[in-house]
Order: sequence, then structure tokens, then C-alpha cells
Amino acid sequence: MIHRELDHFMKIEKQNIERKLPEYIERLYAPMKLKESMKYSLEAGGKRVRPILLLATLKGFGKPLEQGYDVACALEMIHTYSLIHDDLPSMDDDDLRRGKPTNHIVYGEALATLAGDALLTESFHIISSSNILSAETKLNIIKRVSSAVGPEGMVGGQVEDMEAEDQELIVEQLQNIHHRKTGDLLKVAVEAGAMIAGAKEGEIALLKKYAQHVGLAFQIKDDILDVEGDESEIGKPIGSDEENGKNTYPKLLGLENAKRKLDYHLDEAKSCLYKTTMNHTLLEEIADYIGSRVQ
Ligand code: IPE
Ligand code: IPE
Ligand code: MG
Ligand code: MG
Ligand code: MG
Repeated sequence: MIHRELDHFMKIEKQNIERKLPEYIERLYAPMKLKESMKYSLEAGGKRVRPILLLATLKGFGKPLEQGYDVACALEMIHTYSLIHDDLPSMDDDDLRRGKPTNHIVYGEALATLAGDALLTESFHIISSSNILSAETKLNIIKRVSSAVGPEGMVGGQVEDMEAEDQELIVEQLQNIHHRKTGDLLKVAVEAGAMIAGAKEGEIALLKKYAQHVGLAFQIKDDILDVEGDESEIGKPIGSDEENGKNTYPKLLGLENAKRKLDYHLDEAKSCLYKTTMNHTLLEEIADYIGSRVQ
């Protein structure tokens, strides 16, 4: 599929994000090994979907991207922490991530756990110290992000995902887990972009709905790729879900119906965009990209 504007935007903005991410770590007065372990996972690659969503939203409102980088990078740090912990032996026990040995394989479980802790904590330090956003915007963003990734959001979803191992869920229950463990962070990336842009309440509500569908679609696609993806492209082990007795869309619905659900949520996401007054080209192309991604 061709995503003309997005391909260009992603290329440039991935470079910007990847230049900035290590800078936030290098300037820290902290133990060398800890900084090395934090940088290892941040620099291992990754699609940078969450920062791209934030920046694409900001661009859609015609605002300067400079205002978005601190929060965009902070969200990528939170995401990276969640991956380090998700891969630990006590969780999904995976040894490959972003095409490289997982953090705990290289640095050991204790330092990997602490590097995750440090990335999470530092992300809020970065948002609160940003000198390009108003105090009110920063406080509102911290409130939304902390709620999205905490017990009511991502962490809660990870716990439910773990508790449901080897149990038969119905699809509504799985949808709930997927919303929390993956969707909420993607959703808050769009929301934060809209907040920085000073978007009106009505527009923010439509964008949150768009992002809720996109977030769910993103995890459905992740489940599908765990079955039929190519390990060398995806950079993480295929078949991890089955090995861990996870509930996934392909497991509950079969591969073909999982793909139908994926398309349904991407269509719903796009229909929310058409009701907004912003320039939604990039966000629309991101929905298509999520459906067709092989990584
Ligand atoms: C993987 O996220 C974990 C999920 C929440 C599905 P990504 O697919 O965004 O992983 P990276 O950042 O590109 O490595
Ligand atoms: C992980 O879901 C979601 C979070 C890290 C919060 P998965 O366990 O399916 O992610 P992958 O497949 O390991 O990237
Ligand atoms: Mg997991
Ligand atoms: Mg996992
Ligand atoms: Mg997965």
C-alpha cells in the first residue's frame, strides 16, 4: 500500500526522534551501566508509532512539531520500558526484541528491571521539565498519560493478560484487555498531540475515538503477526503467544475473522477522522499502515 505523505513524514520524524532519544539519557547524572542499558533498548530500533501519532496529530492542526518532541520521546520511553518488562522471564520470557537480544539477556534481569523503572520515571521528568509547553498543558498531559499507562490502563491490561493465560476468554473480555494493555498508550499519544495543539473538545473526542480503534487494531495486528509474521522482519519471536497460552484474536476467532476485525476497526477509525476539521491525511495513512505493516 502507498502512504505517500506518511512515508516521507515517518522517515524524517523517525530520524528526529532517534537523534533526540539518546540525548535525554546522555545528559543524566546516573550510573553508566544503567544509562547503557536504557540506551540499548531505546536505540535498538522500533517503529516509533506512538511518537509518530503524536507528531502527526500536531501537524494535522498546523502546529510546529518542536512543541511535541519532549512528550513524543517521553511516550517512546514509556513504551520501551513496557517492552523490557514484558520480555522478562517472569512475563513473556522472550529473548529477541527489535532484532536484538532482549535487555535482560544482555544486562541481566535486575538491571533490565531497573532500566525499565528508570525509563518510566524519567519520562515524567522530561514532560514536567519541558520548557516549550505551558504549566497547565504539562499538568494535563501528565494526568492523562499517567492514567493511560498505570493500573487503570497499560499495567492493568498486562496483569489481566497474564491472569488470563491458559483460560478461555470471550472476545469482549479480550477486547478489553487489548484496549488497556496496548490501546490506551496509543490513544493518549493522539490525545496529547491534540492537547498540545490546543484542539477543541469536540475534535479531541473524535480523535480519541479514532485512536481507540487504531489502538485495538494495532494489537490485533500484533497478534496476527505472532502467528504468520516473519521473525527476521518483525524482530521478535513468532509463536510466543501460543507458547505462553495467551488469548489472542486469531486464537479466539481464527485468522480470517481476526483479519476482518482488524479491517473493521481501521474503517471505524478512519470514519471518525472524516468528521474532524483538521488535516487528517497523515492519521488516515497511519490507519492503513497499521493494517498492512509486516513489522
Ligand atoms: C509491540 O509494540 C508491543 C505492543 C504493544 C503490541 P510495537 O509493535 O510498537 O513495537 P516497536 O516499538 O515497533 O518495537
Ligand atoms: C505487550 O503485548 C503489550 C505491552 C508491552 C504493554 P505483547 O506481549 O503481545 O507484545 P509483544 O508481542 O511481546 O511485542
Ligand atoms: Mg505480553
Ligand atoms: Mg510479549
Ligand atoms: Mg504480541
